[in-house]
Amino acid sequence: MSTSPLVEIRGLKKQFGSTRVLRGIDLTQVRGECVALIGPSGCGKSTFLRCLNQLETHDAGTVRISSLTLTAGETLHGRSLQQLRQTAGMVFQQFHLFPHRTALENVMEGPLQVLGTPLPEATALGRELLAKVGLTDRAHFRPSQLSGGQQQRVAIARALAMRPEILLLDEPTSALDPELREEVRDVLVRLGDEGMTMVVVTHDMELARRLADRVLFLCDGLVAESGPPDEMFTAAKTDRAREFLRRVRA
Ligand SMILES: Nc1ncnc2c1ncn2[C@@H]1O[C@H](COP(=O)(O)OP(=O)(O)OP(=O)(O)O)[C@@H](O)[C@H]1O
Ligand SMILES: [Mg+2]
Repeated sequence: MSTSPLVEIRGLKKQFGSTRVLRGIDLTQVRGECVALIGPSGCGKSTFLRCLNQLETHDAGTVRISSLTLTAGETLHGRSLQQLRQTAGMVFQQFHLFPHRTALENVMEGPLQVLGTPLPEATALGRELLAKVGLTDRAHFRPSQLSGGQQQRVAIARALAMRPEILLLDEPTSALDPELREEVRDVLVRLGDEGMTMVVVTHDMELARRLADRVLFLCDGLVAESGPPDEMFTAAKTDRAREFLRRVRA
C-alpha cells in the first residue's frame, strides 16, 4: 500500500482582482486524516476548498490529490475534471439536492449518469448509503419533505455514492437548526472513524472538536496556527486564534 500522503499542497495562492485571498497555503494530509479549517468570515476558507476540486483555479503553488495534479491557472476538462470531482467529493452548506428527485434518486444520480452503474447496482448502493446515514425510511421523500438535517445526510450519501477518496465539506452544519446539527455531526464522525479522509470548513467548533485530527486556523490568507483540536481549543498559541476562538464560543 502507498504511504505517500493523499493530499499535498504547497504554496497555494489565489486572488480575485487585486484582492489576495490565499497567500501561500500548505497542507499535507494522509489517508484517513480529518482536517478542520476554521477562521474569520472572509478569510478564504471556501475559496481554498473550491480550489481543491476546481470550482476555482488557483494562481500559484502546487496541488496534488491522489494521482491528480492541479496546475496553477489551468482548468481540468472532460474526463480529468470528472476524475477530480469523483476523487474529491463536495458537500455544501445548502445541500444542493435535486428538488424534484427523491432521496434515493438523488443518491443514485451520480452512479447512474456519471459512472454508468447499472440500475439494480445503483439502487442497491443508494439504499445502502441511505441506511448508512440513517435514512432508510426516507428513501422516497423529496428534499422539500425532509428536514435540513435529513437533506444534508442525503447530500453526504450522494457524495459517498461516487466512491470519493476525500470529502470536502463547506460548513455542513451551518444551515441547520442547532438541534439538527448533532445528527449530521454524528454521521460525519462515524465516517471519520471508518477511515474517510475529510477537509471540513466550519464555524461549528463542536464538529471540529469531535471530527478533526488536526485544526488549521486560517487568517489573512495564511495558516496562522495548526494543531490537534484539544490543544488548539484549550491553549492556542497565537493571539489571533485565541481571540477568534473566544468570539465564536461567546
Ligand atoms: N468569485 C469571487 N469573486 C471575487 N471575490 C471573491 C469571490 N469569491 C470569494 N471572494 C472574496 O474572497 C474572500 C474570501 O472568501 P471566502 O468565501 O473564501 O471566505 P470564507 O472564509 O469562506 O468566509 P465565510 O466564513 O464567511 O464563509 C472574500 O473577501 C470574498 O469576498
Ligand atoms: Mg465560506
